Amino acid sequence: MCGIVGYTGDELAKDILINGLKRLEYRGYDSAGVALEDAAGGAAHIDVIRRVGKVAGLEEALANRDAAATCGIGHTRWATHGRPSKENAHPHTSCNGRIAIVHNGIIENFAELREELGQRGHTFTSDTDTEVFAHLIEEAYYGWPVGSPSDPAAGTAPGASAAPGCHDLMAAVREACTHVVGAYGLAVVCADEPGVIAVARKDSPIVIGRGARGSYVASDVIALIDATRDVVVLEDGQFARLAPEGITYTDTEGAPIEPAVTHIDWDIDMAEKGGYPDFMLKEICEQPRVVRDTLVGRMTGGELTIDELGLSLEELNLIDRVYVIACGTSYHAGLIAKNLIEMWARIPCEVEAASEFRYRNPIITPSTLVVAVSQSGETADTLAAIRDARIKGAKVFGITNVVGSPVARESDGVIYTKANKEIAVASTKSFIGQVVSLTLLALLLAQVKYRLTVGQVRMLFRELGDTAEQIQWILDTQKDAIHEAALACKDAHSALFVGRGMGAAIANEGALKLKEISYLHAEAYAAGEMKHGPIALIDPGFPVIAIATKSPVYDKTVSNLKECEARGAKIVVVATEGDEDIARIADHVIYIPPVRDAFSAITATVPLQLLAREVALMRGCDVDQPRNLAKSVTVE
Ligand code: F6R
Repeated sequence: MCGIVGYTGDELAKDILINGLKRLEYRGYDSAGVALEDAAGGAAHIDVIRRVGKVAGLEEALANRDAAATCGIGHTRWATHGRPSKENAHPHTSCNGRIAIVHNGIIENFAELREELGQRGHTFTSDTDTEVFAHLIEEAYYGWPVGSPSDPAAGTAPGASAAPGCHDLMAAVREACTHVVGAYGLAVVCADEPGVIAVARKDSPIVIGRGARGSYVASDVIALIDATRDVVVLEDGQFARLAPEGITYTDTEGAPIEPAVTHIDWDIDMAEKGGYPDFMLKEICEQPRVVRDTLVGRMTGGELTIDELGLSLEELNLIDRVYVIACGTSYHAGLIAKNLIEMWARIPCEVEAASEFRYRNPIITPSTLVVAVSQSGETADTLAAIRDARIKGAKVFGITNVVGSPVARESDGVIYTKANKEIAVASTKSFIGQVVSLTLLALLLAQVKYRLTVGQVRMLFRELGDTAEQIQWILDTQKDAIHEAALACKDAHSALFVGRGMGAAIANEGALKLKEISYLHAEAYAAGEMKHGPIALIDPGFPVIAIATKSPVYDKTVSNLKECEARGAKIVVVATEGDEDIARIADHVIYIPPVRDAFSAITATVPLQLLAREVALMRGCDVDQPRNLAKSVTVE
């Protein structure tokens, strides 16, 4: 949520910042801005340029400027405090304009801080929580009353005494952090320390790298991968001082530290569209690879193994309850997993939205396994739920797409989904990676509990691998059918997604994809529940999108569809190849290859992703960056 970037070196900062911000735009796109250190005409000062809307607007504004700065910071925003406006766009500056800050996170005590700072004479120009940071750093650096001694007219709280400034940016940032409650990843520049960027982190991602032409910071490695593949993932309570000649790291006391360096091995192509019209389509088309890569190395010596689990087989054998906690699409992957874990391992499994789980008092014992699923690995609610579950004594296992992310670090064990960087805001390939990973976990639990034999697990593993080709078949053959179905849905004001069993779980993801990228209201319902209320919605032409693949509940699902047909619904069905009968009640049929019901989510979700994308494009929507959303949700 929000992207930050910073550069100091010997190249033009504005170009590097804009490129970085474009890569980070998936984190938020309400407004964008940069602060450039400018030494032109003698004394150094900071130029702040901000625009409402996407980075392209900021790029245009910068194109006309002769900005020779070689040090600067930038930000792309997803609004939390304050509406999207130029005033609320980052960077924010101190009263004297000599300090500028970009921030990702939330300052929980900002109202008190703002009040106190106001009493001491600070004036605020935005509604954001971030701005208090700029003023806190200003006080620590220059002392107060504000602006003293050059601005003796500045206000001071009655009875308040003056404090001297430390005139050291790193010390001032450290001091400011001691007053703040909340989460932050921040980068700060000061006109009185040209070329220096101070960086701090708490509960918000920061990566730092050193390239041939300077020092870089960003909230995601994707913004600095052109410059270096060796990065430091800053930990909570660590600080960094970036200068053109190098980077130093310190702890909360200012003592030097040497953080570990992580090598990034994924390809820069991941950050480019590679000839596709949008990232969403590119990522949907990568799904066969995601299946294959997520399975690599899992079957060794004929036995399923997940070495990173962080639990011994004996400990796994003792597990008697599983909670899957996640949000959004990741939560839907959990719904699929529940079916598999209960079917194969015979362990009760509950799936809960992380935002609810953390505020309940769930029954957790040392034999409870909590599986936290998160593409980004930084979703605030999921992280808080992990912490809560661990305090209550559960073993926590993370499934995430981001190496070294907070979910990975705070869990007892982790499976990486191998989707690689996902840029489109709507999750597609990471969902498939999650479902495959959760399927492996379900198989492993069944294996250690002797509910499935090693031979059965091996056979299921082989079939799981086959889904890669099945997805490819859908991508290669169903384009026209999906296009026709999209034409039938595009002008609707609402749609229902229905299914039974696995189909009901898949319906949830289909409905979410459609609503989030096309802004067409959609709801998922268990098909058997339709007659208990939702069927009242159906009038002639109302789209009902059904998952009716060959499964033990196929006939029941078809009966429910007939009830919809009788009321004039326009019916789109995802069906099994070879099922000609379904065409009698369906207006549009999209086929998937025959697949075991347990694996049907991996294939049947793909046409629903493509359908949502087609409808969104027909309705003129931006499929990669839907309104009001951001890829990582680092606030509650
Ligand atoms: C929808 C989508 C979101 C995320 C949710 C959780 O397409 O992407 O619903 O699934 O915000 O995010 P992660 O998985 O990063 O925890």
